[in-house]
Amino acid sequence: MSKLRIGVLGAGGIATDRHIPAFKHVKEVELTAVSDVNIDRAKEVAEKFSIPHVCVDLDEMLGKIDALLICTPNKFHAPAAIQALNAGVHVLCEKPMALNTKECEDMVAAAEQSGKVLLIAYHWRFLKESRAAKRLIDNGEIGKPLVIRIKSMRRRKVPGWGVFTNRDLQGGGALIDYGCHLLDLAMWLTGSPKPYEVTGTTFNDLSMQKDMVNEWGTINPATFEVEDHATAFIRLENGAVVMLETSWAANIPEDEETISISGTKGGIDVFPLRLNKAEHGVLMNSDVTWIPEEKPFAILQAEHFVSCCFGESTPLSSPKESMYVSNIIESVYESAKIGNSVKIR
Ligand SMILES: NC(=O)c1ccc[n+]([C@@H]2O[C@H](COP(=O)([O-])OP(=O)(O)OC[C@H]3O[C@@H](n4cnc5c(N)ncnc54)[C@H](O)[C@@H]3O)[C@@H](O)[C@H]2O)c1
Repeated sequence: MSKLRIGVLGAGGIATDRHIPAFKHVKEVELTAVSDVNIDRAKEVAEKFSIPHVCVDLDEMLGKIDALLICTPNKFHAPAAIQALNAGVHVLCEKPMALNTKECEDMVAAAEQSGKVLLIAYHWRFLKESRAAKRLIDNGEIGKPLVIRIKSMRRRKVPGWGVFTNRDLQGGGALIDYGCHLLDLAMWLTGSPKPYEVTGTTFNDLSMQKDMVNEWGTINPATFEVEDHATAFIRLENGAVVMLETSWAANIPEDEETISISGTKGGIDVFPLRLNKAEHGVLMNSDVTWIPEEKPFAILQAEHFVSCCFGESTPLSSPKESMYVSNIIESVYESAKIGNSVKIR
């Protein structure tokens, strides 16, 4: 079998710290080309990882590759993905899928028309705890999911580098950048139901304080354009509800990343993994004490993408599922703006 030739668009932190090293582990892959608006960065990355071609832009790269890895700021996800799919190139795109629902719809349509793979890199699905939780839920341990609680909370970790606080380039802050991961995971664990109504709030009060205490660099309130904290109540078409809270900066005792799902037959906490039940006249909790260790999640994700491109696997995450996450995020922002709930089309 000939190798899958992959090009990298955007050669920043996530490309060099996660995806490129992960693809280096996949023997069916040849990392062929890299492009970045900062051409010196592209050259540096090409040299470091022995990538033969440095391209000035996506146009130049498309003739050389079978698959594209998109690691640019969020604003460029949709146009790059659509251009690549229309050129018959598979796409692995960093999260979030895009800035808004319209862009996601265009990406879904391009993927459907091209028949090529479009996978959004919601990597939490590849964690061993996540996959074990999915097995437990799919095997009926909690029954029908009713109430899903998500906490994706950092006490003081506003990214002080890059463009993460730039609304035009990223589309938002803590929710679109960070809370999206556990939101995607919770939706997948509970069968990827369609969301239909969202009530949300957003805050940026802490980051607007002069000299805010922050573990991840200095924040300039004058250029801070996004939310650092969001909450949401989300109704799903299967009757379940999601209560979501996410923050880069909140006055809480410590960071917390949890999903807790109450179902008709039991409940599950995902990090750490634990079931709770009421059976045979008693209440009991079961801790999961061992989960088979496979490979690191980044390598599993890279292998999975390649296997999908070769037609050997079905994408773990469909473009529509990733779009639902973006539907919710957009609706939280809209709801926060208008001070009322928002119906999703
Ligand atoms: N899955 C995760 O856990 C995770 C973590 C961090 C970042 N991300 C996502 O990865 C993406 C990139 O984040 P990052 O941390 O690597 O940021 P970064 O700032 O380190 O890197 C972005 C790179 O893209 C380049 N770039 C900007 N516009 C471009 C364009 N139009 N064409 C080509 N290159 C362009 C920049 O020069 C830079 O080198 C974002 O979408 C972010 O949400 C995901």
